Amino acid sequence: MKKLHLACLFLGVLILAAACKRDSDFNYYYYEPADYALLSQYLNLPDRPENYQSELPNHLMALGLSVRPVDYDKATLGRVLFYDKKLSKDGTISCASCHKQELAFADNAKVSTGVFGRVGDRNSIALGSVLSFSAYYGTDLFGPSGIPFFWDNRANTASDQNMASMTNPKEMDMSHADIVNAVQAQPYYEPLFRMAYGSNQITEARVSEAIAEFVNGIGSFKSKFDVEAEKALGYNAYSYLEKNNFSGFSAAENRGKLIYLENCASCHSATQSRPEMMKANNGLDATTVDAGVGGITNATDDMAMFKVPLLRNIELTAPYMHDGRFNTLEEVVEHYSTGIQYHPNLSTELRAGGAQAKKMNFSTQDKSDLVAFLKTLTDQELLTDKRYANPFK
Ligand code: HEC
Ligand code: HEC
Repeated sequence: MKKLHLACLFLGVLILAAACKRDSDFNYYYYEPADYALLSQYLNLPDRPENYQSELPNHLMALGLSVRPVDYDKATLGRVLFYDKKLSKDGTISCASCHKQELAFADNAKVSTGVFGRVGDRNSIALGSVLSFSAYYGTDLFGPSGIPFFWDNRANTASDQNMASMTNPKEMDMSHADIVNAVQAQPYYEPLFRMAYGSNQITEARVSEAIAEFVNGIGSFKSKFDVEAEKALGYNAYSYLEKNNFSGFSAAENRGKLIYLENCASCHSATQSRPEMMKANNGLDATTVDAGVGGITNATDDMAMFKVPLLRNIELTAPYMHDGRFNTLEEVVEHYSTGIQYHPNLSTELRAGGAQAKKMNFSTQDKSDLVAFLKTLTDQELLTDKRYANPFK
């Protein structure tokens, strides 16, 4: 009896010792101690990379959507770059200046301010407005197969997009050489590049790829809407969104859902997954003010056409529209209710027929129900998810 006890104890100690050893070895092993000490002088990074891989919920997988694999070391490097003000001409602006985590990676300014106080032309787009960057925009791995970037659809991949932001004179205003020099000058990048790329060679292509890797790991699918869609999927796979009330929604939210499905989903998506069209004119102005997609293609029928944004986290991303003209969701809803302007490219969805703009003429109740529904698209977890947080000390 005694012997058995002792043997057990001995075995227990051995297992414990082995477990501890493995754990501490692993900690020890991930970054070289000298590297981690250096990184820790500047950055609050955990001693091994965060898991940047998202698993989509079933109700989104059921639509045939999937996320691409994310390389954790590249994403970690990309996260540091995303928050690094050294990547701008005057050292005051990072990607995060105009894409703030607590606002679902949008900016609360009508138009954003870049380096040297230069004011931009358009409202920042919320990176957290989509279910998952790679499921939505397509992946750089398979070429430009997804939804294009920017209000005027002018970039096809996350890398093209971030190069455009870094070199934009009204945003970060860096030349190609500036980018490499700025990164080379910071001591913490050497180990991060080594971990991500197996060599400390700093190139513009790697900078751009790493930022893309980080943003490709961003996703937002934990809203009340998602919780309810997931529950409903179980009992009615095909029409879970249509007429059925969501059991966890209030009466107002369920009424708002129907109004949304009736009037908005044909563009913005019933499932909050991918928009039904790449671009549209939603009747903001009777004449072309900002040419939008037309400014890129020069085609008459693209004038004043803009990207159809996804509306995830819309509660947090005011002001609204490409020029930030509306400050509240109530103003947006009023626009669709009574304010749509006829423009030659006005979408057929928003016409009363022929050359007439539609008036949705919502009642006071309809308007507040619709806003209540839009607020179910907020994902609180995204706002404090430490994987996406500012790593700088
Ligand atoms: C000075 C503010 C500012 C900075 C800095 C900035 N952005 Fe943006 N970002 C914007 C604005 C404004 C838009 C919309 C511009 C447009 O569509 O013409 C935008 C659009 C985007 C989009 C397009 C999203 C979509 O759905 O089409 C992505 C992605 C993005 N930015 C990522 C980044 C990254 C990554 C960086 C850093 C390399 C960055 N931004 C730096 C203001 C900024
Ligand atoms: C014809 C397609 C279409 C329909 C229908 C439509 N929208 Fe839009 N919506 C757009 C487009 C395009 C934009 C971007 C316009 C711009 O900024 O120039 C937009 C922008 C928005 C925005 C601002 C998004 C942001 O990030 O700034 C909100 C909110 C919105 N719509 C809500 C609604 C609601 C609610 C309805 C139904 C009452 C609706 N939309 C119906 C096409 C549509």
